[in-house]
Amino acid sequence: MNQNLTFDSDLINRYDTAGPRYTSYPTALELHDGFGEQDYLRQIELSNARGGPLSLYVHIPFCDTVCFYCACNKIITNNRQHAEPYLQNLIKEIALQGALFDRKRIVDQLHWGGGTPTFLSNAQMQALMNALRMHFHFRSDDEGQYSIEVDPRETNDSTIAELRRLGFNPISYGLQDFDVNVQKAVNRIQSEQETFAVLAAARKEGFRSASIDLIYGLPLQTVQSFSVTLDKILAVEPDRFSVFNYAHLPQRFKTQRQINEADLPSAEVKLAILQKVIQRLTEAGYVYIGMDHFAKPDDELAIAQREGKLYRNFQGYSTHSDCDLIGLGMTSIGRVGDAYIQNAKDLETYAQALSRAQLPVFKGVVLNQDDKIRREVITQLICHFELNFGAIEQQFAIVFGDYFAKELHDLEKMQADGLLVVSSSGIKVLPAGRLLIRNICMIFDRYLAKKNTAFSKVI
Ligand SMILES: C[S@@+](CC[C@H](N)C(=O)[O-])C[C@H]1O[C@@H](n2cnc3c(N)ncnc32)[C@H](O)[C@@H]1O
Ligand code: SF4
Repeated sequence: MNQNLTFDSDLINRYDTAGPRYTSYPTALELHDGFGEQDYLRQIELSNARGGPLSLYVHIPFCDTVCFYCACNKIITNNRQHAEPYLQNLIKEIALQGALFDRKRIVDQLHWGGGTPTFLSNAQMQALMNALRMHFHFRSDDEGQYSIEVDPRETNDSTIAELRRLGFNPISYGLQDFDVNVQKAVNRIQSEQETFAVLAAARKEGFRSASIDLIYGLPLQTVQSFSVTLDKILAVEPDRFSVFNYAHLPQRFKTQRQINEADLPSAEVKLAILQKVIQRLTEAGYVYIGMDHFAKPDDELAIAQREGKLYRNFQGYSTHSDCDLIGLGMTSIGRVGDAYIQNAKDLETYAQALSRAQLPVFKGVVLNQDDKIRREVITQLICHFELNFGAIEQQFAIVFGDYFAKELHDLEKMQADGLLVVSSSGIKVLPAGRLLIRNICMIFDRYLAKKNTAFSKVI
């Protein structure tokens, strides 16, 4: 497929609304507390009956210091003792959940996210991985997608070597911006030396892919200052980039109130920074995967997209099949059977459930047939920028044009604006529509009208 991207500031300005990131459909806002442990157990039965490989997400919430912009689920503490009781509960949960899933099902994907997974000591990470391998069936080759997020400020060469020994591959790590003034304004001081050391160590240890997180839209950023960061990081050629749009929602994320709003770049400057990012990364040979992600053309993510084998889940894009995802740890969200399930959102409730040997289920939602159809449509569009009506009709026994008559009508304006082409056989997103893929997916979202205010801006 063609992986070209066109930056059209006029179109972007016209379509600049708030919208979900579609790591799931329905989005996490539809989860409700009417869903409990018994409902989850029923979904696990259904999942085992269907079989197939598994994906595991493990949440380690701790961070040593707070980055003011952060919208992740984290607990800030410089007391390393806090990790141990959490780890013990996590291992209890792994044993409880592991016993419920068919042992024959292979773990094709694993992701440790946070917070900061490398807040744990090497010995604690070993204990956690041992528990996972004891209670789930891991692959014996190096072909699984077993990934981890690391913070270069919390990592040295021996940590990276240990992660590789534990079976991790690929790796991703946070940078955000090299500019000292920006770093001070967001309370994240991170040197070039410690950032590059992670990449060098990852290469030495044989990680097949290393990805760097950047954020545009942070306080005091300018096109010029961000270009300097881009030049520095491009010089070491990471395999992938995640370039996130800063989501400033101080009502929801308290620490963002420490950011001086007067220092935030204007919408025009933000857009100009995004334009620079796209120009620099594409000139350097990276391809746009979609939704903030860029990769080298020979990276497995770019190859999977060209071959029509890309998937998307709560961890973003993935090269492995659309398997059931088991969430482990506080706040984790899983997708099992026909449901999404979220664990308890605070340490105490999480610990209480496990002390009673109960699953720490907090919320969930069971998808109906309409949700499943729309999820498939949105997944195809966001991963491959095209949709084949015939495939959806065959999978769900519907007539696409009848089922989505209103949506097809709503797409006409986007077609006139040059975002996409609708033919009798499907939808093709054009290079100018790629940055606006969220807007296109939003047309197919049945829940959107009632929740529009809870999301960040599309660009
Ligand atoms: C869990 S952190 C990565 C691992 C580690 N904690 C670190 O910061 O290095 C996940 C990433 O989410 C992104 N992020 C966090 N808050 C954000 C926000 N408000 N807007 C956009 N991106 C954000 C950052 O790029 C961050 O690296
Ligand atoms: S960006 Fe990473 S290190 Fe910073 S507070 Fe968020 S999760 Fe923690």
